[in-house]
Amino acid sequence: MHRILEFYSGIGGMHYAFQLSNNSGEFLAAFDVNTTANSVYKHNLEKEKKKSIVQQRSIESLPISYYDSFNANIWLMSPPCQPYTRMGLHQGSSDPRAKSFLYLIDMLSKMSFPPTYILIENVKGFEESDTRNTLVTQLKNCNYNFQEFFITPLQLGIPNSRLRYYLLAKKQPFDFKVSDSKILYYIPCSRYSQRSNDIIKILNNEDSDSLLSKINIRPISDFLQDDVDYEKYSIPNKTLTKYGKLFDIVKPSSRRSCCFTKGYHHYVEATGSILQLDEFLDSDQIFNNNQINSSISENTINLILRLKLRYFTEREVASIMGFPKDFSFPEEVTLKQRYRVLGNSLSVRVVAELIKYLLLD
Ligand SMILES: C[S@@+](CC[C@H](N)C(=O)[O-])C[C@H]1O[C@@H](n2cnc3c(N)ncnc32)[C@H](O)[C@@H]1O
Repeated sequence: MHRILEFYSGIGGMHYAFQLSNNSGEFLAAFDVNTTANSVYKHNLEKEKKKSIVQQRSIESLPISYYDSFNANIWLMSPPCQPYTRMGLHQGSSDPRAKSFLYLIDMLSKMSFPPTYILIENVKGFEESDTRNTLVTQLKNCNYNFQEFFITPLQLGIPNSRLRYYLLAKKQPFDFKVSDSKILYYIPCSRYSQRSNDIIKILNNEDSDSLLSKINIRPISDFLQDDVDYEKYSIPNKTLTKYGKLFDIVKPSSRRSCCFTKGYHHYVEATGSILQLDEFLDSDQIFNNNQINSSISENTINLILRLKLRYFTEREVASIMGFPKDFSFPEEVTLKQRYRVLGNSLSVRVVAELIKYLLLD
């Protein structure tokens, strides 16, 4: 039975992934400073538990002896990604938001009971950072074997792009089934590993539409709710006419969607796809062939309305990200907060496959 610590636990993406990986283990503690995310975690994952798992503490405020006292053999974590993004100005380890992660890395050599297994998730870009160099130097010092990956849910047949960096580490003498020091675009020993070449072509945008249909990706319709309150998720006319051209629009029959981020529903561009319920009309034609500006004609509005565009519901986003049917939100969490915490989370299915590989001895 594994003993697990979850760092930067958010709404529990790692916890769900571990459950899905079919390994048995106990989550001893989950650390996060975000009150909303913690309330969602507790609502779902502490229901039947007698003691609480979630600790509303900043990771770097707790002493090494405290972490040692858990005697955990697995650490799962998705540290803040802002230090490694363009928006965060690529400041890496000098960004204050990297501090807690550096604290954890440093701790590895000072612990009496360091973990045997580690899984880290971050954005693409992390691999080029100084934090990554600090991390791998420390892993080598502490006698860990490690492997790095770029994986997107498309690889698992899920119609969603969310390319992320992952690092798996095992304390020697444990080692990986497949030895390769390159960053891998597939998960070894997984039933999905055959798709790696196609995925690389898709990531390079080589004729991706025909490839997507060839590699057996599930349609978006598999993830949609039946009885959606259309009004609640509809897009205001003003937004439609002003920003419609910027939307990434997908249909129920589509086999792709773009990454849902924490700004979904609030910002328009590159925050997640919009759903077009009408399967036949061509949205590109409507947005590009009609003059769309402030003095828009009624005719154009009517054409746009015929597309039946709406936001994905938070439940649909959760399903695309791999959260199980019984995952839900406490009533008091607003719609904006729901999209926000989901956007911060991870692809549960991808992480489940990685955990399976990590724990394969
Ligand atoms: C990328 S999100 C991780 C999301 C999580 N894996 C999930 O499934 O929802 C990063 C999380 O780290 C938390 N966080 C950032 N700095 C922290 C710190 N110093 N101590 C504890 N939590 C922190 C944020 O509140 C945020 O929820």
